[in-house]
Amino acid sequence: MSDAKKLFVKTYGCQMNVYDSERMAEVLAGAGYVETDTADDADMILLNTCHIREKAAEKVYSELGRFKGLKAARPDLKIAVAGCVAQAEGEEIVRRQPMVDLVVGPQSYHRLAELEARTGGGARAVDTEFPEEDKFDRLSARPKARRAPAAFLTVQEGCDKFCAFCVVPYTRGAEASRPVAAILAEARDLVERGVREITLLGQNVNAYHGAAETGDLGLAGLIRRLADIDGLDRIRYTTSHPNDMDDDLIAAHGNCEKLMPYLHLPVQSGSDRILGAMNRKHDARSYLRLVERIRAARPDLLLSGDFIVGFPGETEADFEATMDLVRAVGYGQAYSFKYSPRPGTPAADRAHVDEAVKADRLARLQALLKEQQQAAQAAMVGKTVSVLFERQGRMPGQLVGKSEHLQAVHVTGDDVRIGDIRKVRIVRSDPNSLAGELVPEPQASPAA
Ligand code: 5AD
Ligand code: SF4
Repeated sequence: MSDAKKLFVKTYGCQMNVYDSERMAEVLAGAGYVETDTADDADMILLNTCHIREKAAEKVYSELGRFKGLKAARPDLKIAVAGCVAQAEGEEIVRRQPMVDLVVGPQSYHRLAELEARTGGGARAVDTEFPEEDKFDRLSARPKARRAPAAFLTVQEGCDKFCAFCVVPYTRGAEASRPVAAILAEARDLVERGVREITLLGQNVNAYHGAAETGDLGLAGLIRRLADIDGLDRIRYTTSHPNDMDDDLIAAHGNCEKLMPYLHLPVQSGSDRILGAMNRKHDARSYLRLVERIRAARPDLLLSGDFIVGFPGETEADFEATMDLVRAVGYGQAYSFKYSPRPGTPAADRAHVDEAVKADRLARLQALLKEQQQAAQAAMVGKTVSVLFERQGRMPGQLVGKSEHLQAVHVTGDDVRIGDIRKVRIVRSDPNSLAGELVPEPQASPAA
């Protein structure tokens, strides 16, 4: 369509941002925008930013600098900044970067079309309020289009934990849960569009407590309600705080078949001294005991985690305690980072660990985590797993999907399509994925 305006979205950071970008593109579709995968011919460039780690704001300013030429050549081009940097910087962005037309915080995405209409010809719009209304309600009217078979669904936002290193409680605000009915409606809508797997998202998703007709439901209650939806085959959630893993949720890992045997449960450090300084409100032993209890409910659970090395005050002994904890748990997958100060957080003003020490510890931790990931993959060779196929692979005729344990699996075959869930026998473990062979399906009798 020649009169459609083109929207280029660049997303940074977490899955929450991927989800938000999709929703923003849908809101802007209502204002006549279709997505394009290059900035060069875009009528609007939208940067959905992340603030969680190092120098996020500076990176956004330098990224914006790269669009200067485009904006000079086409003054009608609209440039928008969304996400947590938008929330944190607000007006400062339009002050520092005159070519930005629109700044919108995560709580105001439903107003995006309206804000966009106010921009142009030098007019600019900034909206980084935390409004009372439910932005999700406003986002819910979407045209029915087929979706990829695995989707994200935000159920909770914000966080009240205040870990000493983290900006989330400041950028995303206090913890808030969406009502159960709204989530079920969105999930049914996704299933109607071909979605078979939903990952429930929230900065602290297991603190979920949403209103239902029968009173508040926790995350386990919500998962059970979702599990009743025909056509929805797989449920996951991320990301969780150890202290919010209640008995009901642990039990769900054992008795809710649709809840997949994968759990992202960040611990950040294995040293009690550092966990205390991080204000994590749990210690290494309580985390290990928790892991034991979840594994008792679901023995084949694959655990994932987040780690920070070089938090202020971390000694070699503290770091060794983290390595010990990793050895004790055995992670199938993990993310690890060097501590980086986020202005405005309590740890930012503390004495920092030397950069070279941080780099050395990160390399050692990542080597161990990589070894564990490889071991978890190697353990799958020879087993038959269930795979939801999500996309084409790089080789002709190749399809790639995810196992129940969220391991990437690729197969070659012409009797399998995107959206199929099929049994696959794993034949090889590659560096970041598993290679498998489709198990032939029992032939349906050729009834008339
Ligand atoms: N420095 C390094 N890593 C951080 N994370 C959050 N804040 C910081 C920081 N200031 C990491 C944590 C969190 C993940 C999403 O990002 O491990 O769990
Ligand atoms: Fe940040 Fe997670 Fe801690 Fe909340 S629980 S403050 S989101 S690290």
